[in-house]
Amino acid sequence: MENILNISIHKSTDSRLSEFNLDTSEFGKTPTDHMFIAEYHNKTWSNFRIEPFQPLQLSPFNLSLHYGQTVFEGMKAYRMQDGNISVFRVKKHWERFNKSLKRMAMAEIPFEVFQEGLYAYLTVDSAWVPSVEDSSLYLRPFMIAYEDRVRVKVAEHFLFLIVGSPAKQYYSKPLNLYVETYYSRAASGGTGNAKCGGNYGGAFYPTLLANQKGFDQILWTDAATHQFLEESGTMNVMFIIDNKLVTPALTDSILEGVTRDSIITLANDMGLTVEERKISVNELENLLQNHKVQEAFGAGTAAIVAPIGSITINQTKYSLPNYSDNAIMFQIKKQLNDIRTGKIPDKYQWNDIIHIANQVNS
Ligand SMILES: Cc1ncc(COP(=O)(O)O)c(C=O)c1O
Repeated sequence: MENILNISIHKSTDSRLSEFNLDTSEFGKTPTDHMFIAEYHNKTWSNFRIEPFQPLQLSPFNLSLHYGQTVFEGMKAYRMQDGNISVFRVKKHWERFNKSLKRMAMAEIPFEVFQEGLYAYLTVDSAWVPSVEDSSLYLRPFMIAYEDRVRVKVAEHFLFLIVGSPAKQYYSKPLNLYVETYYSRAASGGTGNAKCGGNYGGAFYPTLLANQKGFDQILWTDAATHQFLEESGTMNVMFIIDNKLVTPALTDSILEGVTRDSIITLANDMGLTVEERKISVNELENLLQNHKVQEAFGAGTAAIVAPIGSITINQTKYSLPNYSDNAIMFQIKKQLNDIRTGKIPDKYQWNDIIHIANQVNS
């Protein structure tokens, strides 16, 4: 890709890659050697650079630390079977990023900055993209207010960064979910469909309480009535009922998952009927009581699909059946992996490919 942005590249002289062990690594803990940075001042993005990964220098007066003007994305780069790197649905993630930024009154980012920054970062740190089956490099583009003032104010200066961390195959044991009918993650008219830091901070306490009761995650309900299912932790939620894929319709308090959208597309291709609609807690409880839920799973970038083992509604725990390797969720997961690694055709052009297979790293 042409370097239209004139990204300056300052390489680390001391790679940490040889000390890194994917097998013993924890998700999201080890940064790669570099990061991409851009700055927004006077309504313009500039100062595009790749630097060695290092702490940021922030004033204790930095606005984002006090008022939460922070937005992030989570996406993945995969090692393809020919050695190149594919990044999954860059444009879709960029669109959601800008939607979140707009909601948080932050400067939107042009596509070429997002895409070229990503390419530059992945080109210098390409060796960090693992090639083990089902592994990937988790990518974290994010933006913070970059202005110093302890007065409530909309920031005018911003910092955009891309960092990443290798992720091994994410095995998720079936999750035990707790249907939350007191606390809320997001309300209509709020920031639920933006990927802003505050949504996660606000979910921590109820999640901690659920964890203390032995649950892995909360299954959130709508804030107004607590009667309708929304999403779970960092995943959208999906069910197979009567051989149909059923998932809550998007509202402004649900994050529009890229995995959700991809799974719906593939499910349609497989000939499954897909229902995006309101699902009430009562309906779910009825279906569970009558053993009508064939599969329940979370859908998100980190796990791709995470099987759900039980759902607790009011004090009653409903167990889902054991899932075979041939479960629909695993069939779809495999298709997604095969598209990303180039094993099957990328019919929807979801892969952005970085051709590094025959490139000599300078
Ligand atoms: C709150 C929330 N819902 C759903 C998702 C799933 O979204 P995606 O599939 O784009 O990762 C995520 C993860 O990003 C999330 O944080």
